[in-house]
Amino acid sequence: MNPPSLQSSPTSSSSAPPPVPVVHDSIPVEDRNAATLFGMPLKYISLITLAVQNAALTIIMHTSRTTIDPSRQYSAASAVFVNELLKGSISFVIALYRVDSQPKRAGSSASSWSRIWRDIFSSDCWKLSIPAILYVFQNNLQYVAATNLDTATFQVTYQMKILTTAVFSVLLLGRQLTRMRWLALVLLALGVGIVQIQSTASNDGHGHEHHEMHPFVGFMAVTAACFTSGLAGVYFEMVLKNSQADLWVRNVQLSLFSLLPALLPAVVDVHAAGESFPFGLFRNFGFWAWATVWTQVLGGLITAIVIKHADNILKGFATSLSIIISFIASVALFHFRVTPSFVLGAGIVLGATWLYNQP
Ligand code: C5P
Repeated sequence: MNPPSLQSSPTSSSSAPPPVPVVHDSIPVEDRNAATLFGMPLKYISLITLAVQNAALTIIMHTSRTTIDPSRQYSAASAVFVNELLKGSISFVIALYRVDSQPKRAGSSASSWSRIWRDIFSSDCWKLSIPAILYVFQNNLQYVAATNLDTATFQVTYQMKILTTAVFSVLLLGRQLTRMRWLALVLLALGVGIVQIQSTASNDGHGHEHHEMHPFVGFMAVTAACFTSGLAGVYFEMVLKNSQADLWVRNVQLSLFSLLPALLPAVVDVHAAGESFPFGLFRNFGFWAWATVWTQVLGGLITAIVIKHADNILKGFATSLSIIISFIASVALFHFRVTPSFVLGAGIVLGATWLYNQP
């Protein structure tokens, strides 16, 4: 598969400026819409894929953490580290391919390797260290949440990130929100509150045969993850919009800065298990662990494509779609008990998401 952004319509090249060494990310809105993959608008492919990926991740992660005996459990910290390693490597290959396919500036003899090296270690690369550390926290917290909450409750509660994203957008980007959007955010908080109360009351501690769930711990983890999601997302947006660097180069920088903070807890886990580094990282890494890691890798890459070819508003829609997918899967796979208050709470969250996304 070619890197998706290379599939943009010819309209983008007909009026393109003279070739420059850095691959620019400033695709006009009409050309973003025109980007296609196998003839379908990439914008919609990425959004649908993100919705399915979001639902799949919560289900796969929950299964991987709750159906295996705790003594044979893989390390979540190792999974987060391996995720960053794989995502960074894939982003690097795409970034290199994109630099390779860009015409060189006249008179420049720099090789693709030296150009990509210069792009990645640019003077402002340190800016990615902030979202990188926040995302490492968030990705670890997701495991705590998935271990202690059923998939439907996790998915609904995680919608609170729309609220944190809005607040950080107002604080950091100076965005103004309409009264309708503030109302939608209040409704969102209300809906999540209803789901939390019913979940604590009716599903408390009823995990799989190997596993006891602690909803309060799960809610605390989701709340913190919503905070980091909002802050990291808005910060990433700020860095992306204030520079001309390629999205895939930014992704490589994000992964590079994630490696050390992701590795430290993983090494602690390896030592606690009495294993040696680095092979101990993969202790108990079976099918479900790899499935979780690869689904997360896919999610990180699609998130990048969604930011580029769609926008955060449409990303909100994709996430709300994933609530419905997770909900149906929870009932079918985990015999999740549907109560009227869950339906009410989830309905309010979906309605609030719809209201928030109104033009
Ligand atoms: O829940 P949320 O939308 O905040 O999750 C974003 C996920 O996508 C995180 O796991 C983060 O590590 C990943 N991501 C990424 N590359 C980006 C932005 C986010 O891998 N450029």
